[in-house]
Parts: sequence; C-alpha cells; structure tokens
Amino acid sequence: EQTEKDGFDHFMLKEIYEQPNAFRKTILNRIDAEGKHIVFEGLQWSSEQIQKLDKIFIVACGTAYHAGLVGKHVIEELTRIPVEVEVASEFRYRRPIVTDRTLVIVVSQSGETADTLAALRESQRLGAKVLAITNVAGSSIARDADEVIATAAGPEIAVASTKAYTSQLIAFYLFGIYLAQIKETIPEEERQVMIEALCKLPEQTEAVLQHADDIRMYAEAIKDHSSLFFIGRGIDYAVALEGSLKLKEISYIHSEAYAAGELKHGTLALVEEGTPVIALATQTELYEKLVSNIKEVKARGAQVLGITLEDNVELHRNVDDVCLVPSTLALFTPILSVIPLQLISYYASLALGHNVDKPRNLAKSVTVE
Ligand code: G6P
Repeated sequence: EQTEKDGFDHFMLKEIYEQPNAFRKTILNRIDAEGKHIVFEGLQWSSEQIQKLDKIFIVACGTAYHAGLVGKHVIEELTRIPVEVEVASEFRYRRPIVTDRTLVIVVSQSGETADTLAALRESQRLGAKVLAITNVAGSSIARDADEVIATAAGPEIAVASTKAYTSQLIAFYLFGIYLAQIKETIPEEERQVMIEALCKLPEQTEAVLQHADDIRMYAEAIKDHSSLFFIGRGIDYAVALEGSLKLKEISYIHSEAYAAGELKHGTLALVEEGTPVIALATQTELYEKLVSNIKEVKARGAQVLGITLEDNVELHRNVDDVCLVPSTLALFTPILSVIPLQLISYYASLALGHNVDKPRNLAKSVTVE
C-alpha cells in the first residue's frame, strides 16, 4: 500500500497533489489545435437537440452534488439555460418536471451510487436524455447514460473526494463552454479567453499547493474548536458547502456553510468570541457585500480566515488571516479556492489523530439505498 501512496502519508494527500495532472488529462483532446473550440468527440447530440433544450437538471449525491452547484453557475452564466440542482435521493422520490426538452446531467465519481443511478433511470423514463459525468468508464451509470463525459482523475481511494470533485468542475467548464459555442451565447473572443484561462488552471493549482505549510498551521490552530463556519456568496457559497462537508467528513468538527447574506437570519446567533469563520471572497462583484458580512462576524468576536485572489490587496485589513490564490476568471475560482479547504480538513484530521482515508461511518461509494 505504501508504494501506491507514492511516498505520501495518505491517499487523500496524494490525491490532492494529483489534481493538476488530473485536470491536464481531463482537458486533453477536448480543445482543438488552435485553442479556439471545445471538442467532445464522443457526444452524439446534434446542434438542433441542444438548441431545443429548455432546462437542465443536475442530479448527484455528496461532493458530486456540490460540483453540480458550481456547474449550475457555469451553465447558466454561459448559456442562459435554466439549471436546477438536486440531490438524487430527493429527485427520485418526487415528480420532477422533466420532459424530452430537459437534459439531465448526473454526476458521480464511482458511477455506482444507488440513488444517482435510480435518478438517471427515472429521467430516461420521463423522456429526458441523460449525460453522465463520471470517473469510472465501465460503471453502471456510464453504461446506462445516453452520453458520457469521463473525468480523467484516475482511481480515487480516500473516502473524502478531492481530485474527482475538481475534475468534475473541469468537465462542467468544458461542457458549459461547449454548449455556449453551439448556442452562440458568448462571443468567440470571450470563449478564447476562457479556454486560455482554463489551460492555466493546472499550473495555478500547483502554485496553491506550494503554500500547504501555511495552511497546515491554520488547520492545527482550529482543530480544537467545536464548531466553525464557512461563508461565501454566489459561486463561493457552493465552494463553502464543499469545504464544510470535507471538514465534517474527516475531522468530525462540526461546521456549517452559509450564504453570507443569510447569516443575519439565524446563524449569527452562534458566532461568539473566537469562533473560526472561513470567508471565501473571490468574486469581485460581490466583494463589498462579503466584506460587510465579515465585519458582522468580526464584531461578534469571530476569528476570520479570508480566501481571496492574489490581486486583492485589501482583504487582509478586514480579516485575521488571509490565504491568496492566483487570479483567474470568476467562474474558475472554485478550482483554486477549494484546494486550501481540502488541505485544512486533511491537516485538521491528521492533527486530531483520525483515520484520514477511512473516516468512521462513511463509505467511498454508497451502492445500496
Ligand atoms: C459517498 C462518498 C462521497 C461521494 C458520494 C457520492 O458518500 O463518501 O465522497 O461524494 O458518495 O459518490 P459518487 O461516487 O456518486 O460521486
């Protein structure tokens, strides 16, 4: 087993460091030689079929559901097609409004999650076409879906998903740009800028990983707290949810993720002297709003770690600690801002002496209901 870990102490850490290459492999062959178009060789849909779509559902469980929340921002922003995201165990037991003009995207690392597979079958029964984003090419979900986008993250062993999640985000970026290209909803120059920015993400992720030691110190400082909060707005809120799940899964520290504007409607009551709050602040358009939420929690004594882009030179004035990630387009920030969150959970779990790769009560893949 030690050799399989390539010298890392745990599979999770190895998988965190494998992310840049997982992105390169997931992008490979999906951009044309001029860097101007997205190509999906396997996809059989005609542009007429894509033009007639009036709604997209993204259905998944756990971390894959959180990837779907980012996917919604990406697809709606780039194509203006309305997107609903739902956990598979809910979707399968209600009467979702799905027709032959609906595209259902199921997202699953393993391709074997029982609820996601059932949601896929129910969608097909209702007349929708199903696209699967999965990491396992021969899986049940890959077999049953009408079309598949394979993520090339390679086997993921640690129960807490890292490289599969970020590779799912890459798949959503590629697919969102692809849809926009067919529907002509973004200008060609903008598409090219996006493709260039996408290709920079592997290298930028490597740059974030170089700061792992600072993040480790932060994780060790928060490990004895009984509860902490993640806040963000817009696409940052989707990342906050994933950061909070990761921390709960392997460190067993209670945490909640909140859309920052909702704090004052309840959760603020739980913030007291010393409560750690991790604030994601990568969205320039929402930045001022987020800073006022940071001030609200600081006024109650919170200790705030801000995660922002490196060209934001002013956040440090409002927070106790700051973690900078390289600048990229607004839709691409989740790839970079989630890395410190993955490392915080890893190092907190390690410092608490837990079984990082196999947390209590959890399974890598839930194949029964
Ligand atoms: C389990 C795993 C999670 C995963 C979820 C969905 O709960 O512990 O890490 O996100 O299943 O799995 P899938 O294979 O469908 O992505």
